Amino acid sequence: MNAAIRAVARVGISRDCKVYGVRQGYLGLMTDDISLLGLREVGGIMQLGGTFLGSARAPEFKTIEGRQKAVDNLHKRSIDGVVVIGGNGSQTGANALDEMGIPTIGVASTIDNDLIGSDITLGVDTALNIALEAVDRLKVTASSHRRAFLLEVMGRDCGYLALMTGIAGGAEAVVIPEIDTTPEEVVEELSASYRRGKTNGIVIVAEGAKYGVNQLLEYCGQQPDVGFEIRAVTLGHVQRGGTPTAYDRLLGTRLGANAAERLINGEHGGVVGMIKGTETLTPYTAVVGKTKGVDPKLFALADVLAK
Ligand code: F6P
Repeated sequence: MNAAIRAVARVGISRDCKVYGVRQGYLGLMTDDISLLGLREVGGIMQLGGTFLGSARAPEFKTIEGRQKAVDNLHKRSIDGVVVIGGNGSQTGANALDEMGIPTIGVASTIDNDLIGSDITLGVDTALNIALEAVDRLKVTASSHRRAFLLEVMGRDCGYLALMTGIAGGAEAVVIPEIDTTPEEVVEELSASYRRGKTNGIVIVAEGAKYGVNQLLEYCGQQPDVGFEIRAVTLGHVQRGGTPTAYDRLLGTRLGANAAERLINGEHGGVVGMIKGTETLTPYTAVVGKTKGVDPKLFALADVLAK
């Protein structure tokens, strides 16, 4: 996100705009935590994860009164447009601002990769690499002790990160919210892998899956035929704290720069994402309240490759 903020600021300043940073997202818009950003304020931040401006869950922004406070603060400073970096919740808020007469453009950013309007969203590549590093490390202990690990990765509503971690990490099974997998099926995958002579087992479980790692651990522990000794690990927010990959820095830079250019040129009312290698504006109407879902063919492929 810092790469996107830097690009918005520097493109804006290069086009003789005043650029402001809003602290804590919509919370800062409502509490007037807004300050001018100069060229130097956005220097030295690209290698840092997260956002130097901060972020917050802001339930008050869901109310018309909360939004009106934000609009009043923007008018007070004669701010002509807003770039909102975020996922579904942020872009829903951005759409509301746009409808209240503040020209707004989104930058597609979430580690869940569930936002329509970008083949891959900002943060996914970094989070995926962190999850993969965890898998690689877990495999060391797993192989030494002939164990299986159940690894929970983020994704409350979406299994994209889990599925991609499973494919790239060579997992025996992937458990995601979109496709029902029973504890019995997980045990069957693990015991079949054990019988085929595998020295370790990895099951990637999305945070929002029907059966979480602890439930699966309890069930697997009661089955005498699994073969592997089982352990569970929850990766949690560790995934969101990594050094941004080169891919994410470039993606953030390109999307941020494009969003700023478009806003300055009078475009608004949508989310900028990368589609087939091109920065593309998708209208909020096609984005807000919808999700991308996972590709069932990739889920089937993960199963084939696990053998
Ligand atoms: O939407 C991104 C995400 O990281 C999800 O994968 C996860 O379920 C959620 O945010 C966690 O939210 P919080 O940080 O509020 O616990």
